Amino acid sequence: MGTRAWRIDPAGPLRGDVTVRGSKNAVTKHMVAAMLGRGPSTIANAPRVGDVEITAQMLRTVGCSVDRDGDTLVVDPAATPAPTVPQSFTGRNRIPVLMLGPLLNLTGEAFVPLVGGDQIGPRPIDFHIQALTAMGAQITVDEGGIHATARRLHGTRVALPYPSVGATESVMLSAVLAEGRTVITNAAIEPEILELALFLQRMGAGIQLQPDRRILIDGVERLHGARTRLAGDRLEAFSYLVAGLLTGGQVRVHGCAQDRLVTAIETLRTMGARFEIEDEHISASAPDGLRSAAVHTDTHPGFMTDWQQPLLVLMSQARGLSVLHETVFENRFAYVRALQQLGCEIELFPMCLGGNACRFHDTNHLHSAVVHGPSKLVGAEVHVPDVRTGFSSVIAASIADGQSVLLDVESLERGYDEPLARLQSIGMAITPVES
Ligand code: UD1
Repeated sequence: MGTRAWRIDPAGPLRGDVTVRGSKNAVTKHMVAAMLGRGPSTIANAPRVGDVEITAQMLRTVGCSVDRDGDTLVVDPAATPAPTVPQSFTGRNRIPVLMLGPLLNLTGEAFVPLVGGDQIGPRPIDFHIQALTAMGAQITVDEGGIHATARRLHGTRVALPYPSVGATESVMLSAVLAEGRTVITNAAIEPEILELALFLQRMGAGIQLQPDRRILIDGVERLHGARTRLAGDRLEAFSYLVAGLLTGGQVRVHGCAQDRLVTAIETLRTMGARFEIEDEHISASAPDGLRSAAVHTDTHPGFMTDWQQPLLVLMSQARGLSVLHETVFENRFAYVRALQQLGCEIELFPMCLGGNACRFHDTNHLHSAVVHGPSKLVGAEVHVPDVRTGFSSVIAASIADGQSVLLDVESLERGYDEPLARLQSIGMAITPVES
């Protein structure tokens, strides 16, 4: 079977309305949380992204039923799940490690395959393993995956060395049914984490959000099913706003509230974007062109690392030299090669440029980018190894001089909700082809 490719022809300004659904980074965690209830849970406004289907398949292999009715997912947990997530899921996404604690709580043992996700550095899971070990699990990790047993997990203090999103979620999902109190310090506080905490609270969990990145969880004997509607995906919302700005157009994004985009809006404003912000939608345009900027990514409420790929393309069309300093992941610029092929003038450096030193300051990791704008973009054939490369390359190709071909676009659909239809609806000239 051939892989799928998109042929992209230069298009004029992208304009129109895009409605984003619930966020990819929340939906799969809610699905894992639903495993813990006695009775079904309902998750509305679920995006149609590949990660949901992969997670549904994993939940089914442990005995849960997962059904989709339109935009709503219904997860009916198994009374006693099978403790093993098959090895065939190795590297498919980041979710297996989040199932470890829940499976331990429900069955006393667990095997999960090693996790995958985008190609952005080694993405270790040491925080997850250390926290579960401190909660009483015996864990061995080998090439095949992670084996764990525990009579019952117990609460403890978990001091995260860095406010990791995944590790905070892992501990929350493990602590809600553990014995006693768990205190997470230096917890991540991304909006998707708070959404997960609210969902667990609806399921009957004891959760307190404290100042200074502390989360307290009092374990309970049982949780019940709950209903929720996911809030809009802030990565998708940002991506489509940038697609409009980049092409000299104006995209109006519905479905993602302003409070999830505060830093993104402010960053684009300083680059010259003008916003129309209503309760129902947000749109951005730049009638006077765009200025360069120095931006560093950070944990919430800083500039989200998932926003940096569209931003870098935008910087390539702003006047002057821009700097982007990535401080969350040490190796998040793999997608830059595709942008360089399309003509973006981007250079990578191991130093911390444009701001304070970060924890990668004395390493060789290329984690700062200098972007020269405006770069003249040219059509090219580029390979799309992951979702990040995908969206940034698509929007760059749309303003290139000449036709481009993007190979292996499947990975884009793992993280973006029906991207082909949405991009075509705002005027992008994309033709799907077999490669
Ligand atoms: C999640 C998001 C991803 C987003 C990221 C940061 C999902 C599915 N993915 O990824 O889109 O870019 O948050 O907002 O929700 N770390 C360790 N040891 C660990 C865990 C993490 O050293 O055990 C490090 C990572 O290598 C990285 C940093 O902590 O440098 C942040 O990673 P983390 O917040 O855990 O990201 P993910 O949860 O994987």
